[in-house]
Amino acid sequence: MQQSDIVEKIKEKYFQKFGETSNPEQVRTFRSPGRINLIGEHTDYNNGFVLPASVDKAVYFVIEPREDDQVILHAADLDETYSFSIQDLSKPAQSWPHYQLGIIEQIYKKGLKIGGFQTTFGGDVPVGAGLSSSAALECCLLFALNELYDLGLDRFSIVKMSQKAENEYVGVQCGIMDQFASAFGKEESVIRLDCRSLEYEYFPFPMQDYLLVLCDTSVKHSLASSEYNTRRQECEKGIAILQKYYPEVQSLRDATPEMVEKHQDELGDVVYRRCKFITEEIQRVQDACDLLVEGNLGDFGKKMYATHQGLQHEYEVSCPELDFLVDQTLADPDVLGARMMGGGFGGCTINLVKKEAVDAFEQKMKAAYQEKYHIDLPCYKVKITTGTEEII
Ligand code: GLA
Repeated sequence: MQQSDIVEKIKEKYFQKFGETSNPEQVRTFRSPGRINLIGEHTDYNNGFVLPASVDKAVYFVIEPREDDQVILHAADLDETYSFSIQDLSKPAQSWPHYQLGIIEQIYKKGLKIGGFQTTFGGDVPVGAGLSSSAALECCLLFALNELYDLGLDRFSIVKMSQKAENEYVGVQCGIMDQFASAFGKEESVIRLDCRSLEYEYFPFPMQDYLLVLCDTSVKHSLASSEYNTRRQECEKGIAILQKYYPEVQSLRDATPEMVEKHQDELGDVVYRRCKFITEEIQRVQDACDLLVEGNLGDFGKKMYATHQGLQHEYEVSCPELDFLVDQTLADPDVLGARMMGGGFGGCTINLVKKEAVDAFEQKMKAAYQEKYHIDLPCYKVKITTGTEEII
């Protein structure tokens, strides 16, 4: 569905729900996209580099301030409503309002004030597919409230507060990549973000001959969030050991694959493999950006495969469904690179595919997945679009 059709549908639902209490002149619409990540996985919370981009699948909020202190959240896709007074941020049993409540909590923690509001929100970012629908949701609402209530927040603050909402209210210890990509996306460009300094640079991503296709395993193994937090702890263990020898190592960003190699025994098998992957992956993002500048997509694709290998065997955050989808592409001359994307244990693979071969690629992947897992594999061709914005 086209963006304009989605927006129309959400607006229609908004007026069905709030028609009687609405002042149509005050109703505004905001958009924040989902993200992909070309390379640099699990490096954000290790202060490394990532290379994400925001895509043409987004979350939209149709929103209006209220005179009273009520907040009414209407989830268009679920057709559920959750209402509360802005003074009461207690956690409801259902989880979907946690993101919005987390955002309001962050606004208070900054010492800022808002009034009540009513909103219908929805969109086409598939949930649980590793496109960070939650980061899109957080950034979109905070961007909207910033405009509605003149909070004076810049994009960086919006990103950091959205990440904190996820860390502190939702309880997921995510890094900064997803929120950053949603807010800072730029058309046809990938963003190299240095997660230590927060310096970033846009690199044009050439899409004349190749397309990015996501293959959605449609599974999300329950391990995902517990293992995510475990990986963070394993990285911390590695840092503590390396620090004894290299006091300058504050994060794995400050370590090198050579240091990790040298202390393999003391790190122990598991922590060694985690640290090896992260230090190599941080370097891989740098190398991949050089290849982009040279226009060498062939070698860029090889880096994507190398990332998958590392995520599968060393960082161990893949799963059989993801490995199966990547394996299907290995002998395909029309695929330059493929790997699992995001936190892992399900979600999508990202594939760099020759444009004229995309339809055949999708058919082949769908048939293989159907035969193996009896699941109709959703495939998304993604375009790289601009980040969080108001739609006028
Ligand atoms: C999830 C997190 C991100 C990042 C990725 C892995 O998407 O939200 O912060 O750590 O996993 O790269």
